Parts: sequence; structure tokens; C-alpha cells
Amino acid sequence: MTDLSTTIADRTFSNCMMNAAGVRCADENDLNQLIASPAGAYVTKSATPNVREGNPEPRMKSLPGGCINSMGLPNHGLDYYLDFVLKDQAARPDKTNLLSIAGTTLEDNLAMLHKVADSDFNGFVELNLSCPNVPGKPQVGYDFDRVREILTQVFAFYDKPLGVKLPPYFDLVHFDQIAAVLNDFPLTFVNSINSVGNGLVIDPNAERVAIKPKGGFGGIGGTFIKPTALANVRGLSLRLKPEIAIIGTGGVMNGTDVFEHILCGASMVQVGTQFGFEGTRIFKRLSKELSAIMAAKGYQSIDDFKGKLKTFDD
Ligand code: SIN
Repeated sequence: MTDLSTTIADRTFSNCMMNAAGVRCADENDLNQLIASPAGAYVTKSATPNVREGNPEPRMKSLPGGCINSMGLPNHGLDYYLDFVLKDQAARPDKTNLLSIAGTTLEDNLAMLHKVADSDFNGFVELNLSCPNVPGKPQVGYDFDRVREILTQVFAFYDKPLGVKLPPYFDLVHFDQIAAVLNDFPLTFVNSINSVGNGLVIDPNAERVAIKPKGGFGGIGGTFIKPTALANVRGLSLRLKPEIAIIGTGGVMNGTDVFEHILCGASMVQVGTQFGFEGTRIFKRLSKELSAIMAAKGYQSIDDFKGKLKTFDD
């Protein structure tokens, strides 16, 4: 028998796979479907302080093996998601889930975190520092000094488990720089990666961009981004202190992709684009596929191969 459970900090999750924030997690119906699925946890759609409409449509376009989106953080506002996770926590006190927040200013993030700190919520907060789709607001995760400033202000008062969702980095020096910042804080986890920001998809027949916001620029997800996601999970895994767990996200379509994220050092793997295409039944399929790979290799638990990627220098 293979065991797909995982542990982050002192919390155990029955399955190492879950949804990625943004996809099918924006309302109670979506979240209840995740609760009823084999996913080991759920994360709520990134919340802003108030209800937010997001960007004009069309704002998402499916592609073979992926998608481009510029949703612009449409969500029901923090109170809606906090209310949901608190009710769920009361009903299932042994489960840990993730509440994603994505203020468009530092002040909004601090105000939301004060509200969460003052509540009974005892799950994980995922602070999204990487949404590429808010017009006029750059991805904070690319400004290392700003990340330090935000985390300094957050950890001055917030003492519950918290992680950050990061954008992809493309240079090893940037892995060094972001890891040096993150290692100075008591983070529970980092989630790597958000979509690859500001790609451009074109309809050649119409000679027009595929989505309306930001002149067609949007976040890319799906199979195209797996090598970038794996590089980021591996790059951070080699640089972060061991107390910071890694959630691997990006390009997960099948059990092999989950296996590769874990080999690179992920303790949990989130599924975004393909979960959007398949819905919650994907977790049964991925679990079966990952279990088959593990069984064929004689692995009983994910700790048997987590972070054990080999290089030609080993
Ligand atoms: C969005 O709502 O635009 C997607 C969220 C994200 O990429 O963080």
C-alpha cells in the first residue's frame, strides 16, 4: 500500500495534492466539492478586503494543454472566505486548510491579516505576492526589498502559520536573493509558482489577442510551465531553511508531474489549470497515477523520494 499523506509544520494532510488558488475555489459550492474530494486540503480564492469584480471579459482562454488568464482577483471578499473556513474548522477540527489573501496594497494585506489574527482561524494563510493580473500593480514577489518590508510588518504581529505564493524566477541569482529574504522569517511554507506572468496568446485568424484585459497580456498556466515550476521548486528547496516547506504548483497534468514536483522537494502539490478542466475527479486520477509510480519503484511514502532528485554530479 502506498501512503500519499504529507506533513507541513506539525499538520498532517491525508493526501499531498490539493487545488491551486484561483481555480474552482471562489464560492461555497466549489469549496464544498473540494471538501468532498480526495484532495488533502483546499485553498480559497485569493481574497481582497471587499468583494471584487475583477477584470473585463473575455479574461480566460483555454489552450491545448494550458490557458492564459487575466482574472484580476474576482472574489467575494475576505469575510466570505473567513466565514467559510471558520465554519469548516468547527465542523472538521482535525483538518488544516489554506486561506489565500491578496491585497493590492500593503495596508490591505495588513488589515486582512489583523482580521485573521483576531479570529479563531488556526489553518494556514497563503499570502499571494504574485498575482500578475492587477492593472498598474506589479508582482510584489519580484521586488525583494518590498518582500522583506512586507514580511517584517506581517511578522511583527502575525504569529499563526503563514506562507507566501511566489512568482516564477528565471535566474539563479534571483533564487539566491529571494531565498535570503525568506530565510529571515518564520514562514511555514512557500508556494512556487504562480502563473508565468504577462504572456501573450494570439488568435492568428482574427489577428487579435485572446483575452481583453491589459491588452491581451496574462498569466500562463498548464503544461508549458512545468519546467519553470520544477526549476523553482528545486531552486528554492536547495536554498530555503528546512523549517520552510515547499508547495509545488505548475504544469501538473498527471501523476508523473506530481512525482517530479515531490522529487524536486515539494511537500504538497497544487493543481490549477488541469483541475479547472477536469474538476475534483482529477484528485482520484492523480492519486491512482502517483500510487502506481510509487508502487513500481517500491516507495511507500512520499518521504521516500521527496527532494531526492539526482544530478549527473551525484
Ligand atoms: C487572478 O485572479 O488574476 C489570478 C490570481 C493570481 O494569479 O494570483
